[in-house]
Amino acid sequence: HYLGIDVGTSAVKAILVDDAQAAVAEADVPLNVSRPHDLWSEQDPEAWWEAVQTALDQLRAQAATALSDIRGIGLSGQMHGAVLLDEHGHPLRPAILWNDGRSFREAQELADKHPELSHAMGVIPMPGFTAPKLVWLARHEPDIFRAVRKVMLPKDYIRFKLTGETVTDMSDAAGTWWLDEAKRDWSDAALAATGLTRDHMPRLVEGSQPSGTLRADMAGRWGLRNDVVVAGGAGDAAAGAVGLGAIEDGSAFISLGTSGQLFVTTRDFSPAPEAVVHSFCHAVPGRWFQMAAMLNAASCLAWGAHLLKRDIDELLRETEAAYRKPSAVLFLPYLAGERTPHNDPYARGVFFGLSPQTDQTDLVQAILEGVAFSFADAKQCLEQAGTPLTYAGMIGGGSRSVFWARIFANVLNVPMLRYRGSDKGPAFGAARLARLAVTAEMPEAVCTPPDILETIEPDSRLVELYGPRIEAFRSLYRALKPEFT
Ligand code: XUL
Repeated sequence: HYLGIDVGTSAVKAILVDDAQAAVAEADVPLNVSRPHDLWSEQDPEAWWEAVQTALDQLRAQAATALSDIRGIGLSGQMHGAVLLDEHGHPLRPAILWNDGRSFREAQELADKHPELSHAMGVIPMPGFTAPKLVWLARHEPDIFRAVRKVMLPKDYIRFKLTGETVTDMSDAAGTWWLDEAKRDWSDAALAATGLTRDHMPRLVEGSQPSGTLRADMAGRWGLRNDVVVAGGAGDAAAGAVGLGAIEDGSAFISLGTSGQLFVTTRDFSPAPEAVVHSFCHAVPGRWFQMAAMLNAASCLAWGAHLLKRDIDELLRETEAAYRKPSAVLFLPYLAGERTPHNDPYARGVFFGLSPQTDQTDLVQAILEGVAFSFADAKQCLEQAGTPLTYAGMIGGGSRSVFWARIFANVLNVPMLRYRGSDKGPAFGAARLARLAVTAEMPEAVCTPPDILETIEPDSRLVELYGPRIEAFRSLYRALKPEFT
């Protein structure tokens, strides 16, 4: 058996799989985000660790025998977060997350002072990334900056707790803006640009390599073997790809979690920073990917359901029953600011085109369409980066909705593929990386695509109706941009 643990933003998810890659037990422990100031987004690393322990307790209650048979653990996690440890390995402050926009000025300064670095780092510096956050810290919390001994990523803090090792993997390191993506090594130049050195960084391994062994006290606590290998693992985007078997050149999918990604695997490192595309190391050796990363996806639907005090599935059913054509209402989904394509932490959510006839289902449809329109922008960015989209798989919580998949097919004008078990997401990919680290099998043999449930083809009538709506969505953002500062 293998265990995958995903340290997400809204939950820690753990999945236990057997040697035939079937899930035998799953646990899901919710997390909260704290937003103490405008643009800030933080979580306490100890809350992740507590949630991981609860998840392991739950798995033990469900499947103690299978748990005692685990040979490897793989970790996945929300990317880019700054976890700052002191000399004793204790967090110095809450972690600053991927959707935190406070270091906008510092990101711009890095872009202005070091324009040559964006190519090697695979992306322009944006406030969500780890490096600009450390410049912000040096400026606003200098005592904490001086006390920092190690900068870790969220899942790597869990590794540190489980193994005592300070290690990260290539695909997560990729999102720091300190990794030379072509060399798969830290960039001394980028570190120096933020006042840091290699000593502040964890050791690097590939996602499918071992990173350490479970500590004896941890093994004892959950009845695990004493030789459990902890694999490098991956950032959640690459872990999702591994779970979907998207490790071949050109394999493409969209992920609809709290955040959204349009992800395409590439054989070579293909940077396109000018298109606000992220070109990062994949979780298996010798591969890379291009990604458009959006800060708002299924989170918008969850937000809407929360405001309306309604159940998401019920809302989706009612909206689908009322659906005829594109909504008269437009929704800009930028609740948390946006990365691709705008690099604008000040952007905000907008409903536009309300009338006395507007009802609940119009608003929900506008939310579903607004998120899909933001993926039309993402598709355009990848095209600019030389990667046209001909189809897309779907993963993440949002992929459970066939209705949403249909909207995506008509907005993106490509067939959308729905897979069996695709909502298992990054934790399943992490379990596969654990297996690769233990067995040394070929990645192609383990990372196979799941069964296709259905292929949803675009409907030419709706594709045509959506064209002008996408244009209206784009001009609405352009018109409002000056108001968002
Ligand atoms: C990717 C990104 C998000 C986070 C949180 O660039 O910011 O996917 O990893 O899930």
